[in-house]
Amino acid sequence: MSKAPVHVTVTGAAGQIGYAILFRIASGQLLGPDQPVVLRLLEIEPAMKALDGVVMELEDCAFPLLAGVEPTADLKRAFDGTSWALLVGSIPRKAGMERGDLLNVNGGIFKPQGQAINAHAASDIRILVIGNPCNTNCLITRSNASDVPADRWFAMTRLDQNRAQSQLARKAGAPVSEVTNVTIWGNHSATQYPDFANAQISGKPAPEVIGDADWLRGPFIEIVQKRGAAIIEARGLSSAASAANAAIDSVNSVWRETPKGQWSSLAVCSSGQYGTPEGLQYGFPVVADGSGGWSVVEGLEHDDFAQEKLRVTTEELVSERDEVKALGLI
Ligand code: NAD
Ligand code: LMR
Repeated sequence: MSKAPVHVTVTGAAGQIGYAILFRIASGQLLGPDQPVVLRLLEIEPAMKALDGVVMELEDCAFPLLAGVEPTADLKRAFDGTSWALLVGSIPRKAGMERGDLLNVNGGIFKPQGQAINAHAASDIRILVIGNPCNTNCLITRSNASDVPADRWFAMTRLDQNRAQSQLARKAGAPVSEVTNVTIWGNHSATQYPDFANAQISGKPAPEVIGDADWLRGPFIEIVQKRGAAIIEARGLSSAASAANAAIDSVNSVWRETPKGQWSSLAVCSSGQYGTPEGLQYGFPVVADGSGGWSVVEGLEHDDFAQEKLRVTTEELVSERDEVKALGLI
């Protein structure tokens, strides 16, 4: 007997990331090859015509797992009975901007969405925030949905993890599948700390395999921190296919059991792990148990260099939190 469909909401569904992710969700890559889905697609009124075109294309794929599509500009209809909400809809930055510069522009989008999730989503709702600055937008949304437990909220640091894995693999001359245990600590911003020290290549410490501490401490970190800006500079648009791919990876890393001894990067609500202030949406190493539960991996070590990186990214998240507090968003 086939499973009951799961409702998945995607906001900003007519945008670039929307176009790169919807077809993958409908084909079973988000929730598994035997899980039917209903797509609830939220857009703003001016984008509804473009969204109609996307809906036609979804229909034209005749995906066996796609049990329904609901395009809407109404928050209640978008989140009604939904079990996964992928919050993409917001303005991307342009060349020369930092992601934090978007807080004023995008922050206001997430307060009403939090309220709508609180009022209308299914009791098993889980939320992944992709729209930037995603950690603090997640904090805003979560703060406006007090009935939804804190462990249901995720912001996306997986794209940074994938970027870091790819850079380490290339430098080591190893297949990317051999690079594991990469953590992106803190904010999805230019202050993030891509943790090479605890990463592994073929089960060995990455620094030992790579043997170039200067590269790891310098160019490696900088490439990962600034990759989003490099893509905007080259494409004139922000990353979309790789962002959609990372969103699929993120959701899979929540509902699938994490391979033994490994972890993946997600920004989750801090309960003080590694000395971070409680309540920040903070990039940590996370393991999932395969039945919806997850935990932050504790006990990883940070030398003075890493501690200083953590201090800087934590400070940035604290200042973003204070900014949205002053704006009345949390
Ligand atoms: P885009 O401009 O192509 O699409 C955004 C869509 O959101 C548009 O169609 C727009 O109409 C819609 N939108 C705007 N306000 C909305 C609202 N209030 N409700 C619903 N929809 C709304 O942008 P994109 O390239 O798809 O990027 C979307 C966001 O994702 C940006 O903020 C970008 O910076 C961010 N992003 C994050 C990551 C990450 O790793 N966390 C990676 C890439 C992009
Ligand atoms: C990215 O990392 O590619 C996105 O967050 C887009 C951006 O503004 O960098």
